[in-house]
Amino acid sequence: MLILGIESSCDETSCAIVKDGREVLSNEIYTQIPIHLEYGGVVPEIASRNHLIKISDVVDNALEKAGVSLDDVDAIAVTRGPGLVGALLVGVNYAKALSYALKKPLIGVNHLKGHLLSPLLTYPDLEPPYIALVVSGGNSYLAICHDYDDIEVLGKSRDDALGEAYDKVARTLDFEYPGGPKIDKAAKLGDGKAIDFPRVYLEEGSLDFSFSGIKTAVLNYINSQKQKNLEVNKNDVAASFQEAVLEVLVNKSILACKKYNNNKLVVSGGVAANSRLRELFSNEAEKNDIEVYYPEFQYCTDNAGMIAAAAYYIDALEKEAALRLNANPSLGL
Ligand code: KG4
Repeated sequence: MLILGIESSCDETSCAIVKDGREVLSNEIYTQIPIHLEYGGVVPEIASRNHLIKISDVVDNALEKAGVSLDDVDAIAVTRGPGLVGALLVGVNYAKALSYALKKPLIGVNHLKGHLLSPLLTYPDLEPPYIALVVSGGNSYLAICHDYDDIEVLGKSRDDALGEAYDKVARTLDFEYPGGPKIDKAAKLGDGKAIDFPRVYLEEGSLDFSFSGIKTAVLNYINSQKQKNLEVNKNDVAASFQEAVLEVLVNKSILACKKYNNNKLVVSGGVAANSRLRELFSNEAEKNDIEVYYPEFQYCTDNAGMIAAAAYYIDALEKEAALRLNANPSLGL
């Protein structure tokens, strides 16, 4: 089954052709990062306009790279939420038009399910059940994937998403948007033990997260250094920030694996591209006899490959979406 997937939930316009939910024939991604850079973050209206400008070319390129035509495609899949409403609507309406004109089924996909299933594109033999940690720019979830379309949320961020915390701390350090990769790079040159930022575990045994306090802690540290006329070593701040948030992330994920007696752990979403995260997870997982699965880098940040893959596996109810489908900016997992 060939599925054409479309993703436009934030600042990436993407189209992919995926065979049987696993084999990616093409995964075209047009990123708007250079456009939003001067504003220090994504400007929703500018994002929607640029999706409109690019979407036809991105779809045409995906078909050409895959060596298939629209006639060969069996179904159209599209991200229906969560995300920026104007951005989502561009993808949803483009997909509706394709589905109507080609008389092919339309499948609405939850973006978070896409992230959760994205490692299927990298590991052909990976199958549920597994524990999944999704850490992206807009969401942070710990879940158990009992089956491809049977997902139970175990915990989530009560405030900022982890990617959001990375981007906000990066802005405090005057790093360019998007801040996650800049913090990743700077931290390699810094000392993670230099500053003792708080580790927020919440109630004992809780699998929820809270990342909003740490940006205030970073800001307070920088201000107090400045007041004392002391230098701020940005590399040390970046490294110490990472150690604080990643320690909590790793420990809660391992706890979830133990609690649910499952030794397969999927770590996905934009922040899963982080090199220190991968190092820490791999070390701790080995000690606890847990296997960690990360998507390839191109499937970590927003991409249509994961949307087409998820569409192959999602239940009939969502598959019946057809032309009634609408964007839902605040869709949960
Ligand atoms: O998954 P994604 O493209 O967006 C959502 O679906 O929300 O993730 C984008 C987020 C941004 O916050 C970005 O700073 C972060 O992922 N990110 C990283 C790294 N690469 C991207 N954070 C930490 N380290 C990285 N290497």
